[in-house]
Amino acid sequence: MYTPICLLSAFALASAQTVPAQLFSRLIPQKVLATAKSLPVPIQYPQYTDTSHGNWIDFDPDTWTSGFFPATLYALNTRKALCGATPSNGLSAGDWLNLGRAASNGLIPLEAHNNQGHDVGFLSFPFVEELAINPSNQTALDAVHNFAADLAARFDPVVGCTRSWGTADPTDFTVIIDNMMNLEILWVVYGLTGNETLRHIALTHADTTIRNHIRQDGSTWHVVEYNSTTGHVIRKRTAQGFSDSSTWSRGQAWAVYGFANMYKRSGDPKYLDTARRLATYFLNNMPSDGIVPWDFNAPLIPAPRPADSSAATIVANGLLLLGKVDPSPAAGKKWIKAAISLLNNITKLAWRPSWQSLLSNGTVNWPANNFLTGIVYGDYYYIKAGNDLVSMGLAKCS
Ligand SMILES: *[C@@H]1O[C@H](CO)[C@@H](O)[C@H](O)[C@H]1NC(C)=O
Ligand SMILES: *[C@@H]1O[C@H](CO)[C@@H](O)[C@H](O)[C@H]1NC(C)=O
Ligand SMILES: *[C@@H]1O[C@H](CO)[C@@H](O)[C@H](O)[C@H]1NC(C)=O
Ligand SMILES: *[C@@H]1O[C@H](CO)[C@@H](O)[C@H](O)[C@H]1NC(C)=O
Ligand SMILES: *[C@@H]1O[C@H](CO)[C@@H](O)[C@H](O)[C@H]1NC(C)=O
Repeated sequence: MYTPICLLSAFALASAQTVPAQLFSRLIPQKVLATAKSLPVPIQYPQYTDTSHGNWIDFDPDTWTSGFFPATLYALNTRKALCGATPSNGLSAGDWLNLGRAASNGLIPLEAHNNQGHDVGFLSFPFVEELAINPSNQTALDAVHNFAADLAARFDPVVGCTRSWGTADPTDFTVIIDNMMNLEILWVVYGLTGNETLRHIALTHADTTIRNHIRQDGSTWHVVEYNSTTGHVIRKRTAQGFSDSSTWSRGQAWAVYGFANMYKRSGDPKYLDTARRLATYFLNNMPSDGIVPWDFNAPLIPAPRPADSSAATIVANGLLLLGKVDPSPAAGKKWIKAAISLLNNITKLAWRPSWQSLLSNGTVNWPANNFLTGIVYGDYYYIKAGNDLVSMGLAKCS
């Protein structure tokens, strides 16, 4: 656990830094409102944009990213509470709470059936936001309970993890580093019910991940396959990275964030230590141009090596969280400073006023030739970073 005194001094030291003005641009509510008003009927959700005009491409609700747009609407409701709603900040243009509630409804059928494996944690985000506003909303309570039970049912005690993806051979048990982010739904429902099974699953998954998913130097594999009969590791490989031995930057970003959250939730110093190692790898391997590459080991030639703006905004949130919970004031200051620097750098590269997304330069899936796009979760975490900086006292709303 951390002491509020360290927290304050870390914030004071980091606050000398300037955050990008675009984080609070009125273009943000403008664009998000336009997207909310043009959601297809029956509902589909934006996931990424085309590469030439930056127009959103919408997907069926049974897609791992469907929760992010409704969560973005809730994030603007949070921003309204933090900043006030005026015509000049653009926040007076929409009823963000009701837009978020309406957009969440398309996710409800997924509680009974979905094909998203471990990603039910991401699907639950808007319902977790709803509960922060109205803790007795039964629709949202049912959703978080159902999604948590869904993830818990994917836990295998022989392996010590929740299964990320289904496979044709059920003994081939696939876990991806991204799965660290989905453990939060177990903590949320543990907080509501005190159900120790859920807490135990989150801790066990994280411990197994420390053992098998993280290299000596603090980098990560994307995929670890276990044999669910024996519990042994079959192989370690990539799915979306450059190679089996490379470090896919979005995976590393999920890991930083996921372990910082494990420390926040449990107070166990081994998770603090792990989050620090992961963050140190990320920052020590940043190229000198300050642009987060889609994979730390991807070749520089032909230039430019594609960036991943979503990895940048995800890790910025992970670093802000680590900055809040790290009990060392010097370390806390370092993480927050790095987060603000990454936000400045990605804004310079990827802010696109003419696109429907806020940012360009997202790499959805390089091996599938899907890059140079806007990405819904990249934008979500950009807005959330702005909100967090305001609530930490490190930024003004304009
Ligand atoms: C409860 O939350 C759901 C979405 O989670 C929303 O659609 C509904 O409007 C909310 N109900 C009330 C009474 O606020
Ligand atoms: C706790 O959660 C697990 C996993 O969803 C479930 O099987 C169990 O019934 C729950 N326990 C209680 C007391 O609700
Ligand atoms: C897992 O181990 C069992 C027992 O040794 C074996 O029969 C099975 O083929 C293995 N599965 C995989 C995917 O390696
Ligand atoms: C941001 O970019 C500058 C170069 O423009 C670089 O010096 C700095 O280290 C970058 N920040 C991070 C955290 O990589
Ligand atoms: C960023 O995106 C622009 C527009 O799509 C592209 O021209 C540029 O090469 C990209 N840069 C990187 C580093 O990905």
